[in-house]
Amino acid sequence: MLLALLLAGCESQPQVTFADASITPPDDPIELPEGPGRDAVLENCTACHSPSTMLQQPRVSREKWESIANKMIEVYKAPVDEAAIPAIADYMVAVQARGEPQQPN
Ligand code: HEC
Repeated sequence: MLLALLLAGCESQPQVTFADASITPPDDPIELPEGPGRDAVLENCTACHSPSTMLQQPRVSREKWESIANKMIEVYKAPVDEAAIPAIADYMVAVQARGEPQQPN
């Protein structure tokens, strides 16, 4: 029961837009690891969902990350800077390749 509540809490991450996107919500279960492109991800991606949404993706190719970023723009009208997409894709691929420990739940 408690676990179900925790899971539900995770999935209903509030869709809040932070005025300063560089501030990661303090209750986020996963921090973005340090690395080149991290700022681009914080600025363009974490306004709508927590880093864990992105880090818990199955390991995919760089092209796939670019298409995910474009999907955010096209489908969800995300204010993503298109110039930052290559850096975002590089970062996500690098982080996934490192095999960062995934969130257990
Ligand atoms: C305008 C808000 C918004 C922004 C900004 C945004 N996303 Fe999303 N994203 C969503 C919504 C809405 C979903 C679908 C619902 C969900 O899973 O929470 C989603 C889902 C995802 C998913 C889950 C898999 C999928 O394809 O649906 C990934 C991965 C993802 N986003 C990555 C990113 C990345 C990387 C960025 C930065 C380039 C980003 N998002 C920026 C709104 C946004």
